[in-house]
Amino acid sequence: MPAASQSADSFYIATPIFYVNDVPHIGHAYTEVAADVLARWHRQAGDDTWLLTGTDEHGQKILRTAVANDTTPKQWADTLVADAWLPLLKTINIANDDFIRTTDERHEKAVTIFLQKLYDDGFIYSGEYEGYYCVGCEEYKQLDDLMETADGDFAGTLVCKIHGRPVEILKEKNYFFRMSDFQQKLLDLYESQPDFIQPESVRNEIISFVKQGLDDLSISRSSFDWGIQIPWDHSHVVYVWFDALLNYISAIGYGTDTENFERRWPAVQLVGKDIARFHAVIWPAMLMAAGLPVPRRVFGHGWLLVGGEKMSKSKLTGIAPSEITDTFGVDAFRYYFMRAISFGQDGSFSWEDLSARYQAELANGFGNLASRVIAMVTRYRGGVIPTGVELSDADQAIFATGLRVTAEADAAIERLAIHEALASIWTLVDDLNGYITIQEPWALSKDPANAERLDAVLFTIVRGLGTLAVLLSPVIPDAAATLWTALGGTGAVADQNVRTASEWEGGPSVSPLPASLFPRIEQPDTAVTT
Ligand code: MSP
Repeated sequence: MPAASQSADSFYIATPIFYVNDVPHIGHAYTEVAADVLARWHRQAGDDTWLLTGTDEHGQKILRTAVANDTTPKQWADTLVADAWLPLLKTINIANDDFIRTTDERHEKAVTIFLQKLYDDGFIYSGEYEGYYCVGCEEYKQLDDLMETADGDFAGTLVCKIHGRPVEILKEKNYFFRMSDFQQKLLDLYESQPDFIQPESVRNEIISFVKQGLDDLSISRSSFDWGIQIPWDHSHVVYVWFDALLNYISAIGYGTDTENFERRWPAVQLVGKDIARFHAVIWPAMLMAAGLPVPRRVFGHGWLLVGGEKMSKSKLTGIAPSEITDTFGVDAFRYYFMRAISFGQDGSFSWEDLSARYQAELANGFGNLASRVIAMVTRYRGGVIPTGVELSDADQAIFATGLRVTAEADAAIERLAIHEALASIWTLVDDLNGYITIQEPWALSKDPANAERLDAVLFTIVRGLGTLAVLLSPVIPDAAATLWTALGGTGAVADQNVRTASEWEGGPSVSPLPASLFPRIEQPDTAVTT
């Protein structure tokens, strides 16, 4: 297998590309935010970072949705991209470097080049297939993946366990990819690169799936034409997953811009655990066949659950991201999902939990700390941040916490444990609040004999807060930028290196915060459909 050729400081991260059959819900936004936090962190660490996201626009699911809405699939996709998917990125403040659509010419070209190569190299043959197909999953299913329903609209029929909707029997002449050739090579990959699939639960599931044996994969369809044509047989279009997986390399110049491709590839790939198989089995097999390096990692994150089930539009449990950001703001949205859910595990969303964490951690814990620190420097020192102070053991301890959490957070991000990074950073929030309570700057301010001590305390809390602004900027970019400016930091907070966050020595002076970073929300409107 080809070795990964990426240099240590290159960081390419990709989200799955999203189906445009419907508008986004917070489950989709969750993947986006996680990828964005990781990308922002790496950018702030000086890595050569690239964040890719986009939309998956071919296949039967989109075609049927368009037909049901009396329009063409391309028109439908254009509308959904412009009115729903691009606006989502703004709503949740995603700083993506590129946005790929599978209807982009650059993508279609790369898919054609890739397929032709596999065909020429003997990895594709023509055959016949008959099986159960779930249009929701866009996948042929085995009997294990199906169940018979006893009641409801579909009583007595075989339905897909994921979508709960009837499967269809398809019989087609198809082109097949020799995926079965790669069974042992994949098992060797999982063995030799143990962090290729994470977390462990997903890794184990994939390994046992591949050990059961791999069938060749049907990679074309001839019963409809909404897709990329097979280059040597225009009566077939490429199977939507085969087409979609290639976005990760078409977007960085596969087949057309070798220099950029080699600079970026391979990627860290975040996917929901429901689509881990496609990314950890089919995708590396495709890449191996083409003689390309496999992804750096495939991380299968958990689901956002509502009432114990995966949140989904088709089950009417989808919550639009703006329902949350309108009340709590974008930063709180990003913080909440990254903090409250262990990345890699399922998490239940509840308005009560969101509201409680907002008040305790963002409004009272962090926001209030920021307001108090700025207010004290303003009141006791006319806004000037003291310099040349002599630090006591207690002051040094705060600096040591800053140093520790900086290293811990960086290590946690490397493991993609975003929740652990945040939990660690929050120990600095808590320590600073505890320090202020013990040091009582308001009491020190009453006696001029304590002026030097007060200087040291003010310096320490400003420095601690500056460390927090830098470390939290990938998660809460707007609040961190506002705070950084108020602390007199030079340049943009997003340009400060996260790995040296604790070394900041303070700006010349503070300026008032325009408003509370996280204003208290007395009565969040939780009366929405869930
Ligand atoms: N188009 C395919 C992916 C192709 S990638 C080459 C697809 N699209 S999707 O829109 O259905 O899902 C995109 C991502 O959103 C997946 O990673 C999926 O797991 C994630 N989520 C959808 N619902 C989710 C939750 N309720 N919770 C967490 N993530 C969820 O699959």
